[in-house]
Amino acid sequence: PASIERGADGEMIIGGVSADELVRAYGTPVQVIDEGEVRRRASTLRRAFESAAAGQGTTARIYYAGKALLNTSIVRWVTSEGLNVDVCTGGELEVALAAGADAAQLGFHGNNKSVLELERAVEAGVGTIVIDSLIEIERLAAIIARTDGDQRVMLRVNSGVHAETHDFLATAHDDQKFGFALGDAAAAVARIREIPGLVFVGLHCHIGSQIFGVAGFRESASRVLDLHQELLSGGDVPQLNLGGGFGIAYTRADDPTPIAELAEGIVSAVAEGCAARGIHIPALSFEPGRAIVGNAGVTLYEVGTIKDVTLEAGSRRYVSVDGGMSDNARPALYGAQYSARLASREGSPDPVLVRVVGKHCESGDIVVDHEYLPGDTAPGDLLAVPATGAYCAPLSSNYNHVPRPPIVAVRDGASRVIVRGESMTDLLARDAGIEL
Ligand code: LLP
Repeated sequence: PASIERGADGEMIIGGVSADELVRAYGTPVQVIDEGEVRRRASTLRRAFESAAAGQGTTARIYYAGKALLNTSIVRWVTSEGLNVDVCTGGELEVALAAGADAAQLGFHGNNKSVLELERAVEAGVGTIVIDSLIEIERLAAIIARTDGDQRVMLRVNSGVHAETHDFLATAHDDQKFGFALGDAAAAVARIREIPGLVFVGLHCHIGSQIFGVAGFRESASRVLDLHQELLSGGDVPQLNLGGGFGIAYTRADDPTPIAELAEGIVSAVAEGCAARGIHIPALSFEPGRAIVGNAGVTLYEVGTIKDVTLEAGSRRYVSVDGGMSDNARPALYGAQYSARLASREGSPDPVLVRVVGKHCESGDIVVDHEYLPGDTAPGDLLAVPATGAYCAPLSSNYNHVPRPPIVAVRDGASRVIVRGESMTDLLARDAGIEL
């Protein structure tokens, strides 16, 4: 997790900077990202997969899935740690390019890329476009016909293994919008191979997110390798991308598979699958997002009101903070679990079970469904919610006209804003009925 310690007075210190100092400088809520932690996770993943791949006579590339948290600083951190970047819209592509990323190191996904987005990607020199539909093949064919370059493409397939939180349900999720069914893919690849300027490099599949264990990946790899082998009869298939989705710990109850074990488990499954089929192992790529940034983020809130609500049996203490589903929609969207800790001080040694909620006009506006906080937690205290680095800022909104918090990077005792917080002026600026 983000390097969180307690100082001499019990105050929380994140990346060498105390929570109080962060809040004095940036206010609350504030989304804190530990740069060192992002870099460590990026490089740990890269090294683990590179070494597992080298052990099997191939290579591995890690694409950072930008959807988890994207801004130019993050792009620079992960690319300087040797990662590629995966984007899935024209907007994400612009952020990666604005950060100075080498376009050749980018992968571009998405089930409904527009002609404009595809043109921009081809013109910018995006390394790999992951094709998701027959219509997209024809769109790309038309675009590439107007240029004199080549475009490398992969084909996204649905292996029929779809991860469902901590488990995977084999074949249960064929009916979804992404990619090609395994049975439809060979015809699509044949069509790609007919088009001058399109270079088919391999298959891509992604089985879901927040996956624990290697079984789902192994099963998916084995199914995709059957198709991979079939495609070899029509030409070279140098690569295979097995997607992202590596699970992280949100609370103490989560026990994610260590990265080295994951890398060894997945890569060896591919190697065994290739050996069994008598085929050459392709160059591998992966695209984790959450596993790189999730645990590097901590959101700091200020406690506003506290109330004990009398229930039929007993009562429940509600602790309200000055943010909520606008800065972290995941509990409302997915019933996601988080933890909370007092950040300004250690607090009294008498934990009380509470529900931490936000300030929005919805009863589903939960920050942490159940947590033990010191009994003397009071208005004005700071609360830290760890593991908010992934899919919080990207899913944020201005619901109830609450401005989005700033994103602040901490590293070696220093802090700096990497994404400005919104002001009320920012929010009013889009209202065409007033002049500012
Ligand atoms: N590659 C593809 C094609 C993806 O669709 C995704 C995530 C990833 C990679 C990265 O997955 P990760 O390693 O971050 O799990 N909003 C949800 C997660 C949506 C994931 C969408 N695709 C959440 O907050 O849990």
